[in-house]
Amino acid sequence: MRERLMVALDVENGEQALNMRDSLGAAVGWLKVGLRLFVAEGPGLVRQLKSTHRIFLDLKFHDIPNTVAQAVESAGGLGVDMVNVHAGGGASMLRAAAEAKKAFPALKLIAVTVLTSDPMPADRAHSLALERAMLARECGLDGVVCSVHEVETIKKACGQDFLTVTPGIRWGGQDRQDQQRVAGPDDAVRAGSDFLVIGRPILHAADPSAAAAEALAMMSGAIGELSE
Ligand code: C5P
Repeated sequence: MRERLMVALDVENGEQALNMRDSLGAAVGWLKVGLRLFVAEGPGLVRQLKSTHRIFLDLKFHDIPNTVAQAVESAGGLGVDMVNVHAGGGASMLRAAAEAKKAFPALKLIAVTVLTSDPMPADRAHSLALERAMLARECGLDGVVCSVHEVETIKKACGQDFLTVTPGIRWGGQDRQDQQRVAGPDDAVRAGSDFLVIGRPILHAADPSAAAAEALAMMSGAIGELSE
């Protein structure tokens, strides 16, 4: 299960990030570095985190094709395991990103479909996420970021190997905060999500490693049910 859990290190600085990394330890396989931490600390911190965990560089590139391709190349050079672009950037941007990724065979290139925080009606989010996932697949990407609610439809349309990365994970009556389309760690696994992204429910918990253990236990419980 640890290889399916990504903790979003949305903390203020490198010291806090390294402390969180150390308290989570090997229970968690992936760390996600997003805008806040990358803008504050840059690639040096990513290199440090990379020595113990797989890294998802979540900078959601959305620019002209040439610029996005160059950014993907830089991410590949930095040695991260996963990087993402916005599917809203369109087919030529997605193709340029996929072309740049070819130089880094181990790098997973993922497209954001619709932000899990977007308040658009659920059926609109569902159809737009599916449309963007199909486009990302056609353009040669490895998968998408989507909500748990869209995983099954996307897997059906794009194939089981097409990766789904799902933020918006909440359980046990936790506050949704700015997220709209949320689901529990068990529901995410039941839906077939490949990677669960969890930030504040772990970062802001009184005991972050206990919160991560709780999420992992719910994920394992759901796997147990699926294999019964
Ligand atoms: O704190 P929380 O669990 O809501 O964090 C979710 C993380 O996933 C954040 O780092 C956010 O930037 C990221 N994310 C998201 N929705 C997307 C893509 C990434 O919430 N569509």
